[in-house]
Amino acid sequence: MKVLLFLVLFTLIFSCKKKEEQLTIAVGGTPEEIRYWSQIIEEFEKKEGIEVKILRQPADTDLRRHGLAVSLSAKEKDPDVFLMDIAWVGFFIKSGWLEKLRDIDSSPFIEKVLFVDKKGEDLYALPLFVDCGLLYYRKDLLEKYNCSVPSTWEQLLECSLKVQRQERKRDPKFYAFVWQGAQYEGLMCVFLEFSTSAGGSLDDLDSAANLKALSFMRDLIRVYAISPPNTYTEMKEEEVRRFFQAGKALFERNWSYAWILHNMENSPVKGKVGIAPLPAFKGGKRASCLGGWHVGISAFSDKKEEALKLLKFLVSYETQKKLALNLGWNPSRRDVYEDKELLKKFPQIKKIKEACEYAIPRPSVSYYIQMSEVIRPYINAVLAGRLNPLEALTKAQRELNLLERTYR
Ligand code: GLC
Repeated sequence: MKVLLFLVLFTLIFSCKKKEEQLTIAVGGTPEEIRYWSQIIEEFEKKEGIEVKILRQPADTDLRRHGLAVSLSAKEKDPDVFLMDIAWVGFFIKSGWLEKLRDIDSSPFIEKVLFVDKKGEDLYALPLFVDCGLLYYRKDLLEKYNCSVPSTWEQLLECSLKVQRQERKRDPKFYAFVWQGAQYEGLMCVFLEFSTSAGGSLDDLDSAANLKALSFMRDLIRVYAISPPNTYTEMKEEEVRRFFQAGKALFERNWSYAWILHNMENSPVKGKVGIAPLPAFKGGKRASCLGGWHVGISAFSDKKEEALKLLKFLVSYETQKKLALNLGWNPSRRDVYEDKELLKKFPQIKKIKEACEYAIPRPSVSYYIQMSEVIRPYINAVLAGRLNPLEALTKAQRELNLLERTYR
């Protein structure tokens, strides 16, 4: 009996201790991405002998931020390490949630994305990959209907109308163009792209250029009907990706991660997809929202030394190369783009890099999240047909003015 009691106590103590020694990392994304993360983490565990628990988060950036903010504002020890959207790194630094990173050589990283990780000379995070909005298209359908890859939105519309009319005979649920229109951060990215390519910006919301951009977005759904009606209720990255992947669309606006998934063994569009930079309005300039995810360490972590080892491992040349090859994530280190094996196995990286030359950042003000939360309901209400574009932009601008007064 005594022996049994001893064994039970021993097991209890041992398992509690084991748990305490675990490092926790919060990552989100598609099931395929999370599956690959387990492999990466296992490699780290073997290399460093440090046990790591993966805290699985959803794919939606807003939900991921909310999830982390709950733990961080309560100063919880876990997660020790987490990924952050480029759009909210500044907010996390300002909130005091990130541990300052010391003894790190940040010179291999692309300057254009690294700036968000710094406050003055201090470094608080490192970029894991660079994202930008891309146009995916069906090569076979463009060829069949004699369309070229569109460089303007007007061309995209013209070809979409032609193809949709014909393809509907085969599939009544075919829609030519899918993009992110649900009310969340992804919609801000799409709006920024249309706005910039019409000559507008988020600094002057109720401008004629923005009016043109927003009217066009609405008309894609409500007038030309080449984008599905659930664009403004449901369409986030994954909904859009799955729709296109099922072979039900001609064009798709999405991020770099979609490429590998579209070309998976069981994908109905495998081998039929092309990548191009997003079009511009006629006479305007191309624009692609600068996205991407960064890694940081919690200021409340009780395993900062181990956490730093994990962070260094994740942003290393080798891991970034693996993430590019297996998940299609665009490296944030300049040197990885020179990798011969990567270029051979993943030649599309060149196309992605080319499209990313048009990348434009979201406003780098510390209250960007609040700004986005003001603007997106108005944009979404226009897509839903509840407000007209002028009314929506005027009201949003008025609210933004108040917000700016509060934060400046
Ligand atoms: C992608 C981008 C990110 C962006 C988000 C919007 O995850 O990398 O920067 O904010 O999409 O949904």
